[in-house]
Amino acid sequence: MTVIIDGKAVSKRIKDELKELVANKKAQGKTACLAVIQVGNDPASSVYVNNKKKACEYIGIGSKSYELKEETSQEELLSLIDSLNEDDDVSGILVQLPLPGHINEDTVIRRISPKKDVDGFHPMSVGALSIGEDGFVSCTPQGVIELLKRYDIEISGKECVVVGRSNIVGKPMAMLLLRENGTVTLCHSKTRDLKAVCKRADILVVAVGKPKLIDHEYVKEGAVVIDVGIHRMENGKLCGDVDYEDVYDLCSAITPVPGGVGPMTIAMLMKNCCKNL
Ligand code: GUN
Repeated sequence: MTVIIDGKAVSKRIKDELKELVANKKAQGKTACLAVIQVGNDPASSVYVNNKKKACEYIGIGSKSYELKEETSQEELLSLIDSLNEDDDVSGILVQLPLPGHINEDTVIRRISPKKDVDGFHPMSVGALSIGEDGFVSCTPQGVIELLKRYDIEISGKECVVVGRSNIVGKPMAMLLLRENGTVTLCHSKTRDLKAVCKRADILVVAVGKPKLIDHEYVKEGAVVIDVGIHRMENGKLCGDVDYEDVYDLCSAITPVPGGVGPMTIAMLMKNCCKNL
């Protein structure tokens, strides 16, 4: 029997736990507030930003919203970040990516104070993760670890294969699995014989951004398969980087798309927002 890992249900549970924590802290006079900045009005970004603001409202933390025009200069954005860094009422700062082409994302990410870097994208946060120090951790890979733990899936000693080496998912995912004592292989577009490497995995995490790349030829019997991808197919339905139907019977557990990893990203963002409460 394959276990379907229900990220939507776990995410709801985490948000309810945080709601209780926030209420208790509020009684002690402690509050959190997330500043969300969006530059331009890319429709997908607007959906994400709205979901983040709604989640803040649900768990009872404040949110400040900055909707800046597409033509906003990099200097204007940086000076807003400077003022939010200084603002004691703001505990977290999130700049929704992607940014318009005339703005350098790396410069913007570096300007956010590491103390308020709830996305975990600042090089200080990434460095802290890589040497095992405390800091903000990127939300999606943190959500994957949380799912594995809440489903009692042992990581220690397991062969963990991560496909995709992005700064936001693949690399921090590998670091987190290593922190949990997994034996980690990080694959990418130049990996030779990807099928054979994936087939070794007890835990296979896929974040490559290619619809249904991973089929039964990549999956060992009994493996746990975590699908970080999300794509809209021509028929309007969503699919992941994994061919779900094709690998389902082989896996001991699998995350569906939608309803697997996706909802965990916002839950972990909320967890990060409450980190220093
Ligand atoms: N754009 C897509 N995903 C993310 C995310 O997790 N954080 C930010 N800031 N922008 C994104």
